[in-house]
Parts: sequence; C-alpha cells; structure tokens
Amino acid sequence: MSLKCVIAVCLLANLALGVRYDYHSSQPVSRSLLTYYESVNATNTCTFEVAPCDPNEWRRLDGSCNNLKQPAKGTYFVPMIRLLESHYHNGNEPRKAVNGEDLPLPRKVRTSLLKVGKSSHPELSQQVPGFAAYVLMDIASIHDIEKMLLEKTDCCEPEHMNDPECTPNIIPEDDPVHRFSGIRCMNLTRPQTYQDFKCTKEKVPSLIIRATPTFDSSPVYNQFNDGYKARTYEGGLLITEEENGKLFPPTGPRGLCLLNQAPKETRCYQNHLNSVLPIHIFTLWFYRNHNSIAKELAKVNPHWDDETLYQTARDINIACQQQIFFYEWLTSVMGHDNLVKAGVISKDKGFRDVYDENSYPVMTLEYNHALRWFHTMLEDNSHLYDKDGNKVGEMPLLEMLFRSGWLPHGKNEEYVANGFIRQPCHNADHSIDHDIGERGLPIVQQALDLATSDLHKNRLFGLAPYIDYVKLFSNITVKDFDDLSPLIDEEHIYKLKLVYKDVRDIDLMAGMWSEKHMEGGHISKTLGDITIDALLRAIKGDRHWYERGNRPHCFTKAQMKEVRKATLALLVCNNGEGVTHVTKHGFYNVGPKNPLVPCSEIPQIKFSAWKEKCNKS
Ligand SMILES: *[C@@H]1O[C@H](CO)[C@@H](O)[C@H](O)[C@H]1NC(C)=O
Ligand SMILES: *[C@@H]1O[C@H](CO)[C@@H](O)[C@H](O)[C@H]1NC(C)=O
Ligand SMILES: *[C@@H]1O[C@H](CO)[C@@H](O)[C@H](O)[C@H]1NC(C)=O
Repeated sequence: MSLKCVIAVCLLANLALGVRYDYHSSQPVSRSLLTYYESVNATNTCTFEVAPCDPNEWRRLDGSCNNLKQPAKGTYFVPMIRLLESHYHNGNEPRKAVNGEDLPLPRKVRTSLLKVGKSSHPELSQQVPGFAAYVLMDIASIHDIEKMLLEKTDCCEPEHMNDPECTPNIIPEDDPVHRFSGIRCMNLTRPQTYQDFKCTKEKVPSLIIRATPTFDSSPVYNQFNDGYKARTYEGGLLITEEENGKLFPPTGPRGLCLLNQAPKETRCYQNHLNSVLPIHIFTLWFYRNHNSIAKELAKVNPHWDDETLYQTARDINIACQQQIFFYEWLTSVMGHDNLVKAGVISKDKGFRDVYDENSYPVMTLEYNHALRWFHTMLEDNSHLYDKDGNKVGEMPLLEMLFRSGWLPHGKNEEYVANGFIRQPCHNADHSIDHDIGERGLPIVQQALDLATSDLHKNRLFGLAPYIDYVKLFSNITVKDFDDLSPLIDEEHIYKLKLVYKDVRDIDLMAGMWSEKHMEGGHISKTLGDITIDALLRAIKGDRHWYERGNRPHCFTKAQMKEVRKATLALLVCNNGEGVTHVTKHGFYNVGPKNPLVPCSEIPQIKFSAWKEKCNKS
C-alpha cells in the first residue's frame, strides 16, 4: 500500500472512531508523541479519544466538542490557564522574597493576618460558603487531599520532609497555639502536575485538574470522568439506592469514607465525592433534582425515550445550577448592580448571547485557587434544627468529611438541611473559625490548618505576587506598603508590614485576606475581579450556556421563563429531607425582611412548557 493510502485509511478510521488528542495541548496527538507516551506507559493518562462532533448534539459529559473548531478544549483533565506568568524558584519551589530569603512561613502569615474566633455574618447564611465549595468542585478536584490521606501519608516524618512529593507546613517555634503542643509540622503534599504524569515536557509546572472547566454540575454527573455509570438507562433517571426511606447515589468500593463509623455507617458513594457536608448536601440535592425533573418530563412527554429524558433533565438541572449560581449566589456576595455592570449577569429575564466561537471553555488557576478564600466564611459547627425550627444540637463540620454514612441515619439529614437554612455564615472580617485554622481533618490528622494550606498552595501554584494582580485589576502601581491604601485599611497594611519585609513579597491569598470588601459586595475586591474575569470567560466560551437562544436544544422563550424560577429555596424545598419552610432568599439570613415561609409559597417550575406539540398528523 502506498503511503497516501495509509493516510487515507487512517483518516477514514478517524472519522468513524474519533481522533486521539493530547490532554495538555488539546491538539491531536502526533505519531511521535504517541510513541513517546507508549514508551513511558502514559498513553491512557495523557491522551484521549474524541468521537466526531455533531453540532446539534447535547453537552457531552467529558466536555469535548463544546468548541467545534477545537473539540478537545474544555474537557476533563485539560489544564487551566494563568492570568499572570508563573513565579517559581528553581523549577517548582515557591518563589523567594525580594531580598533572596525564604518568604515567611505560611503558618506565620496565616496566624498574623487571620485571628481565630467566632463571628456571625449579619446578612449571609451558611449556604454561601457551602455553595462556594460545591461550585469549586464543579471546576476542580480533591486529588491532592486524597493523595495526602491515602498515598503520601508520611510527609511530617523527619526522613520524608525533603521528599519531592512532600511539602509539609512547618510550625514556627513561637506559634500561638502549638508553642506547647509539641506538634511542629502539618502534612501537605506537593500539588500534582502534568509533568508528574509525563504529559508535558514544558518546564513551568502545570497543575492537573480532574474536572471540566465549565459549570456543568460535574459533582452530579461526572466527577470521575465515567459519568455514564451513574445512569439507570430507564426513564432518563440516575441510579438511586434507598436507605431509611431516602434516596441516595449508589454506594460502592471506590468511595473514600475514612470517617464512617462502622458498623452503623456504611453509605459511601461510588461515583461521587464523599466530601465536606455542604458539598455532599448540594450534590445530593442536585442529584435528586435530576430525577424529579426527568419524572416531570416523562409525565408531559410519555413518548420520550430514556436518552431524551436524561439529556433534557440534565440540561435543565445544569441550567438551574447556573441560574442559582449567577443570579442568586453571586448577587448576594458581589451585588447585583456590580455584576450587571461587568456583564456577568443580564438585566432582563430573556435570552442573552455573548458566546464567542473563537473563545473556548477554560478555567483560570487564579479563580480555582481564589475560591478557597471562602474558607474564611465557613462556620465550623453545623447547627442542627428539626423541621419545626427547634435547635437540636451542633455537629462539627469537619467531623463530617469523608463520612457519607452519617447522613442517612435517624433525622440527621432533616437536622442538617434545616440548620443550613437558619445558620448565619462566618463573617468575613479577617477572622476564621477555630476548626478551619486549628483542626483541619480531625481523627485522621493531629492538626491541620486549612487556611495555612491555602496560602502555601498559593506559592506551590507559583502565583504571581499580590501587587501584580492589583496592577492588573485595579491599575494601581504599588511601590510601597502605603500604596495599598485604596484596597487595604491601615490596620491590615500594618499587619502585612509586620510579616512581609517587602510589599512585593505579599502573596495573593494574603492580600485577599487583608483587603476591604468591594463596594456593594461582601468579598475582597481582588477576589471579585478574579471572579468576574473567570465567569466572563465561562459564559463567552460555553456554546451550551443556558441563556443562549440559539444553542443546540435551546430553551424556548416559555421554557427560559420557567428556568428563571430556579432558586435555592426551590431546590431545598423539592429535594431536602424534612424541609417544610425556607426563606425566599436562601443565601441570606432569616429575618424580618427574609422570613421563613411554607414551601407552598415558593414558585414551582412548570414542566408543561416542555410538552411537545403533536403536529405530526
Ligand atoms: C501502565 O499504566 C497503567 C495505568 O494507565 C497501569 O495500570 C499499569 O500498571 C502500567 N504498566 C506498567 C508496566 O507500568
Ligand atoms: C500526617 O498524616 C498521617 C497519615 O494520615 C497521620 O498519621 C499523622 O498523624 C499526620 N501528621 C500530623 C502531624 O498530623
Ligand atoms: C492606568 O493608570 C494610568 C496612570 O495612572 C493611566 O494613564 C491609564 O489610562 C490607566 N489605565 C486604565 C486601563 O485605566
């Protein structure tokens, strides 16, 4: 056979079978690269097959074909971009201070900038940091925590401190808490990179991400890139198992439930995260929501097959999540007018189309990291309420991590759901709750400071100095500490001066912890700017964005109107266990302006809008 023929045969095969792409570059993988991957046994890790795109198909589970010209962009395991160039020392070590010394220890920075103590938010509810954690899971993954807990567990042993996979947090001698405890180290593993998996030969560390970069409810549909396993293939439904009269995603051996108390607590999700309670609860609510949508659709369209029901229900469920995220959650933390002005949300309730086919779905490393700022708003104890609004107890949130088995028992789920509705979150006032700073992962770790880990990761991710982001977003050239005064008040500039020797040394997360709130919002200004940048990319780059009037299988005007009714209140009423009353504005606290009302007062989505007109005769 001539060479031409061989190529022709290959092309034909490609058309039918799809093309093999390189994850890291999102380009078709060349013969020589494939040979290299084969030689290091990395073909299945670093490359994947994309079946031919059909411009009219639904949003794919793995995110491929979102951009028709670049079908591998925006898929599971495709790297994030950096807003600013990386800053590392010696390849993949944290950058040095301007004077050439090490930057101050992360734990030192944390204890200097964030004090530990109770402080309730005057306006916002515990649902705010809870939903932030869920959204983060839609675009990120917890592979590094899993690695620390399961594979690389000895980073605090003296002989492993210099292990390249380890990067433990050293506790300073004069630590306010651990001065006398004898604990001098907190476990941390180095973030995994495409270089670790041999998926790129580039020098700059490229952090892996096991999620699609679009807001497509990954925690519900595709946390492990094999989402088809969650389907029943009947009636468009996801698989459920019943326990104590309630429905849950299926349990299986792949689940990680380190804190389940045997023998009573056995539930552990096979296809979903068994993570912190808020992520767990939101995943559960959206999971059940899928099935209730599919059942309603089947009632109005009895002739629809499984595939149509599944895809339509998924599309509506994702739209509900996007609607709650953009129009309810974001507006509560950043202010409605700010978001309209920035073009992140639309002024009216109709369609809007800002899709740009030269753009594609992509996540910034900065946004992925900055979302951890919401740790500062998390209350460490979950207040438990029964459905009549009586407080029945408290439960440390972090004792619920990797413990899906607890929720189905007794009335636990009712207590948690009614608590999230009623509990204010931690005030974002430069303080954090005790367990966030001092307890981390109880039982499996002696001590862990989530905020310190966040700051340390900031450096391990090689993010640029804080002042470079101030220049980028606020157009302020910072030469010395006092130049920060438009963003940071005097007291916190002073605290920064005590811990950093040069203003150029300040880490992005430390700057965001120290900043005043953005005007008209409740979060740091730079966090707000990073958010706006990331979300504009998300809308522009997503061909399946729910507000578009001309995407494949787009909503009709009447359907769009129904989707606009999606609220946190509705989600909780329809899917929460033992919930009879909610506030209309679920991200705000209960109060005279936001009273508890019966679920019957929350407008329902009318699925009659999806009824197919029979005009075939
Ligand atoms: C090759 O990689 C796969 C995972 O992709 C692994 O299961 C297998 O053990 C590896 N084989 C060798 C020879 O290293
Ligand atoms: C580090 O992790 C291991 C395994 O999870 C644990 O046994 C050890 O206590 C941890 N060290 C500290 C200081 O918490
Ligand atoms: C940034 O500031 C400089 C001078 O302070 C000004 O000349 C420039 O127009 C500003 N850029 C933007 C985008 O506002």
